[in-house]
Amino acid sequence: MRRARAAVFVAAAAFILGACSSTPSASGGGGGGSASASAGKCVVGVSWNNFQQPRWAATDKPKMKQTIEAGGGTFIDADANLDNQRQLSDVDTLISKGANVLVLLAQDNKAILPALQKAKDAGIPVIAYDRLIEDPSGSILYITFDNVGVGKAEAEAILAKVPKGNYVLIKGDPGDANASTFLPQGWNDAGLKDKIASGDIKIIGPADGTYTDAWKTEKAQANMEAIIDQANASNKKIDAILAENDSTALGVVAALQGKNYGFPPLSGQDGDPANLNNVALGKQYVDVWKNSNELGKAAGQAALQLCQGKKISEVTINVDSSVAPAAGNSPTDFKTPGGNTVKSIILKPTPVTAATLDKVISAGWYADKAAICKGVDTSSPTAPAACK
Ligand code: GAL
Repeated sequence: MRRARAAVFVAAAAFILGACSSTPSASGGGGGGSASASAGKCVVGVSWNNFQQPRWAATDKPKMKQTIEAGGGTFIDADANLDNQRQLSDVDTLISKGANVLVLLAQDNKAILPALQKAKDAGIPVIAYDRLIEDPSGSILYITFDNVGVGKAEAEAILAKVPKGNYVLIKGDPGDANASTFLPQGWNDAGLKDKIASGDIKIIGPADGTYTDAWKTEKAQANMEAIIDQANASNKKIDAILAENDSTALGVVAALQGKNYGFPPLSGQDGDPANLNNVALGKQYVDVWKNSNELGKAAGQAALQLCQGKKISEVTINVDSSVAPAAGNSPTDFKTPGGNTVKSIILKPTPVTAATLDKVISAGWYADKAAICKGVDTSSPTAPAACK
């Protein structure tokens, strides 16, 4: 125990969270080692790998900060701007600034491991936020949306619309397990693999899909342009596109538009305003919405409890029922693709099409009706009901 616990902080946090009936354990620690808040303080250090997608600055960060501050804690953070080395030094800085708990949105699920080791050495619990960290010691708490479920929802929607035909697969950054493993697994769970095996679906471009470095829109656009050229050169028509997230889906739409291709059914995830607008305009078929306000809230709640010395296995979260984890509000075991087992809390995503845009609008999502319905001809019989 490096520092004394703060009874005042503990009481305040317990009151606000409404989830902490027990006195914090004197031994603290658990899976992630022990943490102890300095007098009157719980400092939560957050290392973001990027702020490229609008969700991070619009939802994840403010909601996490608000939750931590409402519980009496202090929020400090740093943006590594897509740089592995910088993320490692950011974590050093957060530790030197007195972080009692770390929340890491990892740029790369393995390159982050030295930072994890430093946190462990200093007895600081770590929350892997949104993206997995391949932690061999299994000491992290992984808080995320159900990424396999996101992929499954994307592919279910697109496969229902286009059960047979030529597909393009646009993936995200290869260092993110969501891109390389979980989303494709969801696509296959929805039947993609079987339909490829049976010949109902043929892939245009690389059979395994095309990665997009750093999930960048410009890169996805360039990759999609090359695939459209390839399809045209071989006289094949693209019938559907599975894009793993919204920033890549935006690149796909830019490529389709630039080449006057029309808009085959396309997937994405995140509920970014430009993409929900594309859903309303008929340029993107499905957007799997992750209410990341609730993810930020869950991580903030967990961080406060870890700060008090709760074990990872003792954490409980309290989120909106629309995203409530199927496995309940406490951590459960998660087997990683790398063969490790970590504790996880996995929230539920919601697929949204033009017919169901009201779900996001009525939830008060930061993309409001005006943004989502921008440019929609509301007098048209095909205009989404939510825009009328
Ligand atoms: C993924 C995340 C997605 C998306 C993407 C780009 O890890 O789950 O929601 O935002 O990163 O940052």
